[in-house]
Amino acid sequence: MRQKGDEMITTSIETDVLTLGARAGELVAHHRVVADNTYTRWFATGAATTDEVRHLTVQFSVFSHQFVEAQLRKVINAADLQTYRAGKEILMNELGVIFKPPIGGGVGSGEGDLDPALVATDGSVDGSRFRFAAAHFEWLLRFAAPLNLGFDQLGKRRHATASTLRFCDELLRIYGSEDASTAEGASYAVEHWAAAGFWKELIAGLRVVQLRQYPELNLAFWTWHDKVEDQHAAHTDDELAQAMVLPGFDQGKFLAGATEMLDGVQAFWDGLWADHLVGRSTT
Ligand SMILES: [Fe+2]
Repeated sequence: MRQKGDEMITTSIETDVLTLGARAGELVAHHRVVADNTYTRWFATGAATTDEVRHLTVQFSVFSHQFVEAQLRKVINAADLQTYRAGKEILMNELGVIFKPPIGGGVGSGEGDLDPALVATDGSVDGSRFRFAAAHFEWLLRFAAPLNLGFDQLGKRRHATASTLRFCDELLRIYGSEDASTAEGASYAVEHWAAAGFWKELIAGLRVVQLRQYPELNLAFWTWHDKVEDQHAAHTDDELAQAMVLPGFDQGKFLAGATEMLDGVQAFWDGLWADHLVGRSTT
């Protein structure tokens, strides 16, 4: 009887995961930031001027930095130990602890630790090592150097436009929410958005800029993240199943968190597009 009951519960959870997964998947796929991102579509053509590439770099650097703070909030507000640790994997890796590949692979050594083109995109920070130069922000600093952007021009809120700030504040509010259902919805949305191809569009545009003008441009910050997102996309159903068994999980809040987070992401790209239209850039 007991076993039969367990099977019934499992089946019901599986059905719920499939139903919510389908709804959330539709929500993300049809959101304008995924279905029709004017800025990244344009950027992929390589039409951006150098000043526009610098502007993107500065705005992206503020988001990247604020993401670390949002991720810390997510860890602090985690509803259970498993979510807490999963959040820490991302947080510590952002800060410079390289992923130790699963069995069979070893941690790189020497320069291999520091070059995002060589460090692992999968594995765990547990038992791995910290390197200052492996922090994602430092990768971005190295990308930005040939564009004549230095440390004091990157990553601070004071460098952000109003649209970038809105995105950053929505990340802190929703992605880092104390409400687990809201935070999981935002997390789901961010991962699906990130896996939907915007990295590839930015990389395509940056390759043109690299060929045209800056052969020394190191694109590894962008290509590493693109590789990671391809892997994340494969894990999201598992994460959804884990979220749904959290105590007090609320599907409505999950979906609202996902929608509001995507609206925040949209504000970021719309801001960059509006800046392009009026000729605003970082000089
Ligand atoms: Fe990152």
